[in-house]
Amino acid sequence: MGGHPNTRPEVVVRYHRWAMAPLLANRWSVLQPVLNILSTDHVCVVGAGFGWGVDALIAESSATVVGIDISDYIASEQGTTEESELRAQVSVVGLDPDTGRGLEVMNFIFDGQPRSNVVVLQNDAASGPQRKEVRTALGGNWPSVVIAENVIDDTWTDNEIVSMRDSMNGFGGLQRLIFLYKGTTARTHQNLFDLLPGTKEVISTDGQVYLT
Ligand SMILES: C[S@@+](CC[C@H](N)C(=O)[O-])C[C@H]1O[C@@H](n2cnc3c(N)ncnc32)[C@H](O)[C@@H]1O
Repeated sequence: MGGHPNTRPEVVVRYHRWAMAPLLANRWSVLQPVLNILSTDHVCVVGAGFGWGVDALIAESSATVVGIDISDYIASEQGTTEESELRAQVSVVGLDPDTGRGLEVMNFIFDGQPRSNVVVLQNDAASGPQRKEVRTALGGNWPSVVIAENVIDDTWTDNEIVSMRDSMNGFGGLQRLIFLYKGTTARTHQNLFDLLPGTKEVISTDGQVYLT
């Protein structure tokens, strides 16, 4: 936000809506022309976090989309605002969030809205009742597309990945399965692709497909 005096550290905003929602909007504007999710699709986004990617995907595709995430933190905080955390970030650099420059920064980074614009179900699609909950959220339709949105990292074992794929496939097996994955040296895109035989798409978060 403009320049800041070098007499104090800058205010740091990381996994907050003001910083992340534009990044996810940009990500989905790159992905949608490649993936071509249809406006008639019913989409389940697995590992949706606070649903900022869900917002972005709806904006890009006009599809019907529900996000799911297993995190207790997401479930308990999605309806709350970020105010206390952002005030703390402003205070920690020596500004007063209620007056002067501190208030200006607060007004810039905090819009008063809850973290999520959409309801993210606390769900990992691993059981029949959970999958029915997804269907209900999609207006009584099974998902035609299931996307793992940047869920896998290097802490995941092969078995855990296969098990998540099975959950994603448990909607009947006819849906598109898409793995949005950053890719690491330890687990390349090709490695993930080979681990999951059958029909699925592996795409990088930058919109490229790195398969050999
Ligand atoms: C790195 S975050 C990604 C958040 C968001 N999709 C993004 O791209 O910014 C991964 C999320 O996946 C969730 N997650 C991990 N395993 C899951 C599972 N089996 N089912 C649903 N969500 C899961 C975590 O709780 C976490 O919120």
